[in-house]
Amino acid sequence: MTNEQYYSLIQPYRDANQLLLTRLEMLNHKVYDQESFPPIHTVQSRIKEKKSIEEKLERYHSKGSVLDAKDLLQDIAGIRVICYFVNDIHNLVHALKKQGDLIVMKEKDYIKNPKENGYKSYHVIIGVPAYYMDIMEYYPVEIQFRTISMDFWASMEHRICYKKNLEHEEELRKAFLRYASILQEIEESFEAFSEFQTGDADV
Ligand code: GTP
Ligand code: MG
Repeated sequence: MTNEQYYSLIQPYRDANQLLLTRLEMLNHKVYDQESFPPIHTVQSRIKEKKSIEEKLERYHSKGSVLDAKDLLQDIAGIRVICYFVNDIHNLVHALKKQGDLIVMKEKDYIKNPKENGYKSYHVIIGVPAYYMDIMEYYPVEIQFRTISMDFWASMEHRICYKKNLEHEEELRKAFLRYASILQEIEESFEAFSEFQTGDADV
């Protein structure tokens, strides 16, 4: 894939990312009433780099053409939405799914069913319509919804475990599972405090 091909490949994905970022920002203001705390803590977004696209295509035994990238990859555009609590994620996802022009292409609920290593996140591939003259085409955007504590865990796990041949692998594996459960407990306590405070404010 030449640089020119890469830049023309990613342009509609950039547009799709931008559209979803705006929708998420609007939901952040609208999903709860004016007095409530907004659900989103931070949003990150990225377009997959040329090198990462080529490496992933190679894993799929593709020669790395633009057509293969479009056909095989659903994470060229990616957004990570970091929320305070799990309920915030459910409310945002519910509201996003009600937007009639978007389609859900794939969903993986690693919050309900965490991965074996303890990884939690809610992944959804949203199809965003792009209109060019008289043609409409959906472009996939991968959105990962996480709470702050899930993001803390995932960032550390990524940093520490991304290398192969880890020393003390079994110990690490157990420790990460334990931390995931401790973090969940802390998050649930914060949520209980937060609900209590909200209740107070209403009196
Ligand atoms: P990829 O080929 O990596 O895109 O996997 P997939 O197509 O099976 O998708 P999945 O939804 O399982 O994971 C996609 C993304 O979620 C990854 O690129 C990571 O950003 C994140 N992710 C998934 N599993 C883990 C994990 O165990 N640890 C961390 N830190 N991140 C993960
Ligand atoms: Mg990926």
